[in-house]
Amino acid sequence: MAGLDVERLRAATPGCHDVVHLNNAGAALPTRHVVDTVVEHLELEARVGGYMAGDLVADRSAAVYESVARLVGAAADEIALVESATRAWDMACYSLAATFRAGDRVLTSQSEYASNVIAFLQLARRRDVDVVFVPDDESGQLDVDALRELIDDRTRLIAMSWIPTQGGLVNPAAAVGAVAREAGIPYLLDACQAAGQLPIDVGALGCDFLSAAGRKYLRAPRGTGFLYVRRPWIELLDPPFADVHAARWAPGNELVLRDDAKRFEAWEHSVANRLGLGAAVDEALALGLDAISARVVALGESLRERVAEMPGLTLRDRGTEHCGIVTFTIDGVDPHACAARLREQHVNISVSTIDFARADFEARGLDAVLRASVHYYNTDEELARLVELLATEPRT
Ligand SMILES: Cc1ncc(COP(=O)(O)O)c(C=O)c1O
Repeated sequence: MAGLDVERLRAATPGCHDVVHLNNAGAALPTRHVVDTVVEHLELEARVGGYMAGDLVADRSAAVYESVARLVGAAADEIALVESATRAWDMACYSLAATFRAGDRVLTSQSEYASNVIAFLQLARRRDVDVVFVPDDESGQLDVDALRELIDDRTRLIAMSWIPTQGGLVNPAAAVGAVAREAGIPYLLDACQAAGQLPIDVGALGCDFLSAAGRKYLRAPRGTGFLYVRRPWIELLDPPFADVHAARWAPGNELVLRDDAKRFEAWEHSVANRLGLGAAVDEALALGLDAISARVVALGESLRERVAEMPGLTLRDRGTEHCGIVTFTIDGVDPHACAARLREQHVNISVSTIDFARADFEARGLDAVLRASVHYYNTDEELARLVELLATEPRT
């Protein structure tokens, strides 16, 4: 495949020598540069102390906001850096929910990630909010017409996972954005699996909030994530909690929240990880998200074609547009045991279970699926190795 120098990219990725890593939807392999960035900062902290080290890299820390903003097509002051996709998503959701009343409705996707639904269920319990799952269309992606019809004057939020954790589906994020804008409903897009895998332009997507993790397709360290908040929303929202970084304790016991998206952050954070996130985002931007996406999608399709030929194997990816996540079940093969056996052979894949997306798994009558998720540094040989091992899986 043209576009990326895969050999060079693999040489710059230490893990490529040790494992066939097909769990990029869990956490991708970082580059040597990202690892060095993190370790060098930890070394600096060890030498001069964490606070002085932080001061010494203040400009580089600030530049991380610019990098993330560039990644999603936003302004730097619309970005909050947090420790996970869930914390990012939660800050948007619980801030919005502060004004929800009994009977208000949130519309979400059938394939929504469990942590998001758990937040909604908490709001249902605390505030009597109605949680409505928008049905899928017959292809398995969110049904945009059904969404449009479900919107009423009690609808307060539309929230959707762009790429769900449990399959190759790419939900129609921009079409949902158009519906949300037309109806004037806030739109919270979970881009956890999309960031680093697909080009992102929050303007074109029409989302008001976008959450993502660093460790997945962006190849950043664990414990990193970010939230984009469209400018006008920032000052309208009261974060569910705020600290001395998010707000100021002003004379007269006045509480003054910051006027940028940092009001959704915490003061304490891993500076090393944040610099690592910046390094990873810069690397993705340098390669180009179009080139990355083209290769990831093509490798995903190639893997789908290969495994589809295996007897007893059923592909489980839904929707009309697919990404680098490939899910399947194999008759007579327990997914957990299969993933464990592959791991012994240094091939990493994962298992997606009903606990992570109950509505979707229940609707499909499934408990668990095997999930192989490719990144641009994977090769045809690695895909062949996976298929070879899958073919020898013992069946009951
Ligand atoms: C679609 C989706 N949303 C949210 C999350 C949660 O991300 P985090 O573990 O960074 O909170 C995941 C994790 O797999 C995910 O796949």
